[in-house]
Order: sequence, then structure tokens, then C-alpha cells
Amino acid sequence: MFSKLELTAQELKDEGIMYQKFPANNYQPGLDIIKSYWGYQYQDVIELLPETPNLQAICDKFDKEHLHTDDEVRFVIFGEGVFDIRSGKDLWMHIKVEAGDFIRIPANRYHLFYLTETKHIRCVRLFKDNPSWVPRYRELAAIYS
Ligand code: LAC
Ligand code: NI
Repeated sequence: MFSKLELTAQELKDEGIMYQKFPANNYQPGLDIIKSYWGYQYQDVIELLPETPNLQAICDKFDKEHLHTDDEVRFVIFGEGVFDIRSGKDLWMHIKVEAGDFIRIPANRYHLFYLTETKHIRCVRLFKDNPSWVPRYRELAAIYS
């Protein structure tokens, strides 16, 4: 069911970030366990690729430090991307995700996301409710205070 956690996953777990692998071609059984455990009822798939209309505008929304009041839960089916997530001590944790990777960033945790050179990722998204997915940007003043 769950593959063995690597050391980096354990370190992430200690920071409240759930990170593990599911087979990219058979992920639904694993996601179903996550969904019932955490109460995520809503599932969809998002794909970004070079031909995506407004790709730049979409990326511009998420490559600045932000949080959500809901968990950010993603499983990468194809492609890759990078999450930078704040640790408990407000340091950056750098996590490249690729096909087979599941990640859960808890609500109210600052993070940002960007694509790699391939500009291509296809992800399952899980939410508790129908998503109104609003990034709340971090004030610069807060970072340096
Ligand atoms: C999001 C990610 C990309 O908010 O941070 O959807
Ligand atoms: Ni986000």
C-alpha cells in the first residue's frame, strides 16, 4: 500500500508535510485511503503544459509565497514541479515532485510552487469541499519582522 518512507520523507513528516509514493499508474487505492482518513471528498485533475492558455498568469499566482486555509493535497501523475515550503522555523524546504509523488501541505503553511523547464505537470488534487482555491500572499513586512 504505502511505500517505505525515505529519510527525507521522515524529516518532512516531522515538519508536518506528508510525502510519499504511490504507483503513478495505480494511485487510486492509496488516494482513497487518504481521502477517507482526512475527509477529502472532492477530487479532480489539473494539467499545466506549455500550450496551456494563460500558463504564465497561472504560474505567477503560485510562485509567490502564499498559504491556503485548506490543506494543499496533490498527487503527481506525470511531469514535475517544485514546492518550496516553510519549516516550523520559517526556513525553506525545497521539494521537487515528480510522477508517483504524493504531497500534503497542511492548511496555513506558507509555500510556493513553480514548474521545471519542461513546464509540464499533471496532478490529482484533493479537497475537503468544492475548492475555492485562494492563495493568501505573505506580506513582505511579515517575512523580515
Ligand atoms: C497551489 C499550489 C501550486 O496553490 O501552491 O495550487
Ligand atoms: Ni498553494
